[in-house]
Amino acid sequence: MSQFWKPGAEKPRLLDDEEGGVVFLSSSISSSSSSGYGYASVEKQRQRLPVYKYRTAILYLVETHATTIIVGETGSGKTTQIPQYLKEAGWADGGRVIACTQPRRLAVQAVASRVAEEMGVKVGEEVGYTIRFEDLTNKDLTLIKFLTDGVLLREMMDDPLLTNYSVIMVDEAHERSISTDILLGLLKKIQRRRPELRLIISSATIEAKSMSAFFQARKVRRGLEGGDFVPRLEPAILSVEGRGFNVQIHYVEEPVSDYVQTAVSTVLLIHDKEPLGDILVFLTGQDDIDAAVQFLTEEARTNRKNSSGLIILPLYSGLSRAEQELIFSPTPRGKRKVVISTNIAETSLTLEGIVYVVDSGFSKQRFYNPISDIENLIVAPISKASARQRAGRAGRVRPGKCYRLYTEEYFINEMSAEGIPEIQRSNLVSCVIQLKALGIDNILGFDWPASPPPEAMIRALEVLYSLGVVDDDAKLTSPTGFQVAEIPLEPMISKMILSSNELGCSEEIITIAAVLSIQSIWISARGAQKELDEAKLRFAAAEGDHVTFLNVYKGFLQSGKSSRWCHKNFVNYHAMKKAIETRDQLKRIVQRIGIVLKSCDSDVQVVRKAVTAGFFANACHLEPYSQSGMYKTVRGSQEVYIHPSSVLFRVNPKWVVYHSVVSTDRQYMRNVISIDPSWLLEVAPHFYQHQRLNPIQ
Ligand code: CDP
Ligand code: MG
Repeated sequence: MSQFWKPGAEKPRLLDDEEGGVVFLSSSISSSSSSGYGYASVEKQRQRLPVYKYRTAILYLVETHATTIIVGETGSGKTTQIPQYLKEAGWADGGRVIACTQPRRLAVQAVASRVAEEMGVKVGEEVGYTIRFEDLTNKDLTLIKFLTDGVLLREMMDDPLLTNYSVIMVDEAHERSISTDILLGLLKKIQRRRPELRLIISSATIEAKSMSAFFQARKVRRGLEGGDFVPRLEPAILSVEGRGFNVQIHYVEEPVSDYVQTAVSTVLLIHDKEPLGDILVFLTGQDDIDAAVQFLTEEARTNRKNSSGLIILPLYSGLSRAEQELIFSPTPRGKRKVVISTNIAETSLTLEGIVYVVDSGFSKQRFYNPISDIENLIVAPISKASARQRAGRAGRVRPGKCYRLYTEEYFINEMSAEGIPEIQRSNLVSCVIQLKALGIDNILGFDWPASPPPEAMIRALEVLYSLGVVDDDAKLTSPTGFQVAEIPLEPMISKMILSSNELGCSEEIITIAAVLSIQSIWISARGAQKELDEAKLRFAAAEGDHVTFLNVYKGFLQSGKSSRWCHKNFVNYHAMKKAIETRDQLKRIVQRIGIVLKSCDSDVQVVRKAVTAGFFANACHLEPYSQSGMYKTVRGSQEVYIHPSSVLFRVNPKWVVYHSVVSTDRQYMRNVISIDPSWLLEVAPHFYQHQRLNPIQ
């Protein structure tokens, strides 16, 4: 269609185009979902999903096997239908609950709404969901519960055998999120103690054989519950045949230098040359998605001919419910929806009506280096498996097209076949503390679906030891270790909260903890950077970002939580509302573990000390004579810089601790606060006793 595009040979699926079926099914679901529909039509729509043909087989396998592995294309009905089949077959009778886990919160909310709608019930009653800091379930009513895999892990702390559940469906297992992997290891253990528990592992592209081997490799124990029916231990595998349409792949002829800009021009080209049909663009995160939305919206304003009829919508975690609904609502006749998304739309969510996919070839991924002890969030190339999934999203309703913003040669020769499980590329501090809290002491010997690197484990244990969370025998300390484990946040944040109790600034620190759990409280301002910087200056505190958050929070409360105030100050209203909700929940949790809420008024020194008590491992000092603002981490001597979004950017205090690191052209510290280096020895003597703490004094 344009000189820089060439059609490629790769066809992700070579199924024949089918008449009827999914085409009409999909559009009728979409158009009816906003207006509500009668029972019969819902039933019909459910029956047209590919998974329906397997209903009896699935129920039989679940009945007779401890573990059933179900592989099926995205959109075939696994997530929304299987929990309903189980309920219909009686798995939720007698006070038991069917659980379905997802790696992403947004997916949890979206599928729960969808299933509630199909069942004609309200979310929070028969169908409910739980994500961190938000529980929409009812103890007496809920039969099907969607939850993140992380939340299910937390539930194990109170109920180690998960006795509440009759069936647990671990969905999206191919994503191999860190929590999914821990969960699989633990569920395998639980099965030995609870033979009546059923597991379903479901995913779009799982290596079913390796997963099956994982569940099969176990010591078989005989004579469990004398006389009771014991399901077969070797897993059953079921493959649901999809009904996707042919997707034609196009590659760029030359590598592109700016994938955001190329994605935008590709959307405009499609809009100009191709028949109507929605477009799904895969970028990497809020920053580049907001930038693309802005470019396209501006284009729509200045060049109406090119872009009339486009509805441009971002899709990433942290969107409000109202924003999510827009994405799922049907495209009005004669219009074209453009959804610009992170890889959440790769397999977790099905968007109807997508005919064109634009794939940047990148996603944001975590990478941890145990040597430097830095965990980075970086924009990294996706795998071939992901690229195929992304392309597949174009073939839901009719034959589609996928535009890859990389060359065919790159796809064939350089893209890796599969991604690396998250557990092998993450900082393991949170993971280790969770296992410890569940009484798993031999973490290296734990039965992992994929073993984490031992160096990362050792690093994590070192940090936990310095935080006072584990003792010399690597056991959780009492009370600190147990309290830190109880708070559903990163251990460093939990430790910061515990320290604030002693320092008399818990009110301030839980505000900071709530804000840190949110992506950004600022509105992204491409093109209005100057105004955003000016707005930030109104709140900026010389001590750093954490204290600045306190100023914004105070301002928001004083404005009466006004959205106009937010707009005027470049503050994200939804993010602030979320921060307040999170803070309320957190307040309840920390009070439960004995923390007394107390404000330090304006003594920010104690706030900085409390932050240091949690984040001492992330301490850095400014390189003497550095013109460019280069810092070195105290521990690993790694080069890092203050992120331009920080209020300390260009201020460059001598000593700082950071909350996280992101990498683009350099390693940037996000959320930074200045500290006094003597505090490091005070709060973490073991950690720093051998370090040189005074290079510039
Ligand atoms: O889990 P899987 O990818 O196999 O499919 P699903 O999420 O259960 O989706 C099954 C079907 O439900 C999709 O094809 C959509 O037609 C519909 N659906 C929807 O319209 N809106 C949602 N929020 C979720 C699903
Ligand atoms: Mg699904």
